[in-house]
Amino acid sequence: MSEEKKESPTTTGKAAKLARPNVLTLVPYRCARDDYDSGVLLDANENAFGPTSLPSNSLNPYDNGMELERYPCPYQLQLKQLLCNYRNSKVVGSYGGIRPEHVFCGVGSDEAIDILIRIFCTPGHTANNGGGDAIMITPPTYGMYNVCANVNDVKIQSVPLTPDMDLRIPEMIEAITPETKLIFICSPGNPTAKSIPLSDIRHLASCPSYQGLIIVDEAYVDFSSEPSATSLVTEFDNIVVLQTLSKAFGLAGIRCGFAIGPPDIIQLMNNVKAPYNVNKLTSDAAMNALKNTDQLEKNVRDIIEQRGLVVKELESLEFVLKVYHSDANFLLFRVKQKANELYKIMADRGVVSRFRGREMHCDECIRVTIGTPEENRQFLDMLKKVYAEIAE
Ligand SMILES: Cc1ncc(COP(=O)(O)O)c(C=O)c1O
Repeated sequence: MSEEKKESPTTTGKAAKLARPNVLTLVPYRCARDDYDSGVLLDANENAFGPTSLPSNSLNPYDNGMELERYPCPYQLQLKQLLCNYRNSKVVGSYGGIRPEHVFCGVGSDEAIDILIRIFCTPGHTANNGGGDAIMITPPTYGMYNVCANVNDVKIQSVPLTPDMDLRIPEMIEAITPETKLIFICSPGNPTAKSIPLSDIRHLASCPSYQGLIIVDEAYVDFSSEPSATSLVTEFDNIVVLQTLSKAFGLAGIRCGFAIGPPDIIQLMNNVKAPYNVNKLTSDAAMNALKNTDQLEKNVRDIIEQRGLVVKELESLEFVLKVYHSDANFLLFRVKQKANELYKIMADRGVVSRFRGREMHCDECIRVTIGTPEENRQFLDMLKKVYAEIAE
């Protein structure tokens, strides 16, 4: 999902008469693929090294053991157990490992973001004149928190990160109101690429003046040297961690994500979700991936190695003012000038990154996903060539 807006939608006809007022004010969001859908695609933080698994043999629909004529298991217990085995093998908190009752399985982690807002935030921002509950976000951050809050008519409290992309914890605590139900912490952040230390998450989760939940979005955690907050889930009753198979596992196309949290919260998420949200083809490929984590770990090592090479080369360019530290599979960097023009010309010539210069603290910044060695070479060559052309 991306964060740039299209023009306003048509609000005429039956739809305009019947729709909820906050929905009528929504503008459709452009995803990365709306702008460019071919070439070297380094714009959506996908995994250029490919999927870590495939669906089981599906050439014969009558003999693949999947019984596609039957509905899938609504709770995906086998899949959840495999996720728990893998996460527990990496880190077991002093309070013990996670179990399937700690896990919600959804259509990407985006589904979990929406469901959490629907469960915990009473709407009313538009319908009730600024009333209702709120979420807190820390810009620059992932755009879906905003999107889901707006769809659900929920207020957004923004406490920007510092220019170094760290949380401003005292300001966040100061901004909490009785209506604040969810605080979204993106770690590693998108577009910042920076991990938030677990000590910050503990600090917020232990804050006596906050009665809501901390949602730690760990879409990129497998690329980070900071440990996962899943180790805190069995210790605290107010932390929910979001993870996905879309990034390190290279499975954005199957749409599979997780929320890992206290069983009472996970139970509510299961009560609210559509009964058969995760389909059999998805869970089949997801389970294969979680049984094949050697491939995942190899791809992650390769991407981190490539990330180091791209950082080094970017840092050597005199027109690159800053390359932000990255714990993710992408880099955020600042050029001297004309970042938007640079991005556009490069994309028109087939190398697609993402202009992030309209985000807080991201003036003249571009975000680029780490690709294969060939793709990274093409990106760096094109960047140098186009910048030289447009520089005064
Ligand atoms: C921070 C963050 N969270 C969640 C997601 C969505 O992940 P999924 O594909 O699991 O819906 C993304 C996707 O780019 C992301 O950047």
